[in-house]
Amino acid sequence: MSVSATDNWPKVEAQSKSCLPERLVKLIESHRGDENPQGALIEVLHAVQGHFGFLGKEELDAVAQLMQVPAAKVTGVATFYHFFRLRPRGKYIINVCMGTACYVKGASAVAQRVQQELGIEFGETSPDGIFSLVSSRCIGTCGLAPVVMIGEEVFPKVQPDQIPAMLAKYKKLAAEPPPGD
Ligand code: FES
Repeated sequence: MSVSATDNWPKVEAQSKSCLPERLVKLIESHRGDENPQGALIEVLHAVQGHFGFLGKEELDAVAQLMQVPAAKVTGVATFYHFFRLRPRGKYIINVCMGTACYVKGASAVAQRVQQELGIEFGETSPDGIFSLVSSRCIGTCGLAPVVMIGEEVFPKVQPDQIPAMLAKYKKLAAEPPPGD
C-alpha cells in the first residue's frame, strides 16, 4: 500500500511539508512520478543540504514521505555519497594540509596536535559545534608549509605548539555575539 493511500496521509503530508521550506516542497512535487526517482532524490537531497547545511533525520523523513520513497532508501542514498553530511558542520572548518610539501615539513605532528586538542578525528566536529576538522592535499601555498586554514584564515609554517592559541582565538570569536546584537 502506498503511503498516500493511508487515512493518515493528509496529516503526514502536512507534517512533512512543515519541516521543509516551500521552495523545497515545490521541487519535490515537481519530481512526483519521475521515471528516475534516484536521480531526483539526489537532486532533492542536495537542495535540502544546501538549505540546512546538512541532512537531519527529520528532513530525511520528510523527503521520504513527500517523495513517497521508503525511508531506508533515502537514508541509504544520504549515507552512500560522501558529499552528503548527516551532522551539522562546525562554525569554523579547520583544514590541515597534508600534501607533500606540508607533510615533509611536519604536517602530521600539526594534525595530531589539533586532533588531541579537540578530541576529534578528520571528518568530525567538536562536541561544542565550533570546529570541523578536514584535511586537503594542497591548498596552493606550499612555500608556507606546513599550512593550516581556519575558516578563511591561512596560518603559515605552523608548529604544533601554536595550535592551542589558534584554537583559542576562534573559540573566543565563536563566543562573541553576532554583529548588530
Ligand atoms: S602541499 Fe600544503 S600547501 Fe601545498
